[in-house]
Amino acid sequence: MSGAPGPQLIGVAGDEETRRLLGALTRQIGLSGAQIGEGGAAAALSLVQGGPPPSVLVVDLSDSADPLLDLRALIRATLGASAIVAIGTVNDVRLYRALIEAGARDYLVKPITAEVVLNALVSALQSRIEAPPSPTVGAAACRVIAFIGARGGVGATSLAVSVGWSLAARKRRTVVLDLDLQFGGAALSLDLEPGRGLREILTNPDRVDSLLIDAASGRAAENLRILGAEERLEDDVAAQPEGLSALLEVLSQSAEFVLIDTPRALGSLGRKALAGADTVVIVTDLSLAGMRDSHRLASLTRDLRADGRLMLVANRVGGQGGEVSQADFERAVGRKIDHVIRFDKAAATATAETAKPLIETARPGPTQTALKALADAIAGADAAKPDQGSWLRRVIGR
Ligand SMILES: Nc1ncnc2c1ncn2[C@@H]1O[C@H](COP(=O)(O)OP(=O)(O)O)[C@@H](O)[C@H]1O
Ligand SMILES: [Mg+2]
Repeated sequence: MSGAPGPQLIGVAGDEETRRLLGALTRQIGLSGAQIGEGGAAAALSLVQGGPPPSVLVVDLSDSADPLLDLRALIRATLGASAIVAIGTVNDVRLYRALIEAGARDYLVKPITAEVVLNALVSALQSRIEAPPSPTVGAAACRVIAFIGARGGVGATSLAVSVGWSLAARKRRTVVLDLDLQFGGAALSLDLEPGRGLREILTNPDRVDSLLIDAASGRAAENLRILGAEERLEDDVAAQPEGLSALLEVLSQSAEFVLIDTPRALGSLGRKALAGADTVVIVTDLSLAGMRDSHRLASLTRDLRADGRLMLVANRVGGQGGEVSQADFERAVGRKIDHVIRFDKAAATATAETAKPLIETARPGPTQTALKALADAIAGADAAKPDQGSWLRRVIGR
């Protein structure tokens, strides 16, 4: 996540003794902003939802009817970015293995001693600092970027596909997820067949797996997959937001970037995409309507996800009459425009003719430079990892 770093630890336990132990140990090793609460998986879920994920999440699964299901929900809610230490009463090696395979960092059986918890915490914290995320919890390395146009035709799809192309060229595994199941144009813009099954994936969250996703996506280039659909216009396509969480969870195991092309006709699915994204990119032109709706989208985004990153991109600038000046636009929206991309007729024509993205067809010049700067900004979003090294080294003496 690219917002403020999360707390170092959130711990939730059903019994007083475990909570006391967690409190004492987090003080002892000097964790900042640790939160200790009462309860089980549900309490942990409500503590992590809506905020940046903690480095370590300790959760008491003693009362869970289905510890695995609860663990998965927590991994999803923390986007896989937290090392999860589960606690329980069941001393069973199969449960232990299943939890570890599902992505838990450790499983401790009650009654737990200070030494056991301390070791688990230190190793969990260390895993967040040193180890690359394990494949089962690949989400830690996955960034979700939602692109949305303030108006139709401003280039939201073009920019999502261009940024995806550029990330893939940097050898970052990237998926462009086009959530407009009926009119989506991401696959079309690269002359790819729309895949089959995205709608089924979104409507059956329980059945999502990588095979279904492979079938629903097309390969646009090395490291670049496009996931989209071309559903019949005669049908109602009601996709549930739960399906999106499940899809993102599976995608995050193999992709480093998921770029969502978010339909502007905002349904619960689109809002969920904005709420779940690390970064929301609002694409607009400099029209009056673009100005009004950039403002509205920016406040919606802030309401949905206060800690997320927001980028405002003006595209097709200079392409039409009746533009508002950049200064007026920024004043009205209440924030600076992060990237200005000029209208480039030649590049757009070449895009249509060659089915290559704008970033590829733009000649060296302002459009190409601005597109690259946008891709750089998105690629670099993961460079800003909170620096937790020093205090831990002090604690564990390395
Ligand atoms: N900077 C630009 N200069 C010229 N044409 C552009 C630019 N960006 C996008 N376009 C063109 O604008 C049209 C609409 O773009 P699209 O990405 O489909 O918009 P949206 O997804 O916001 O509806 C496309 O023909 C695209 O090639
Ligand atoms: Mg579009």
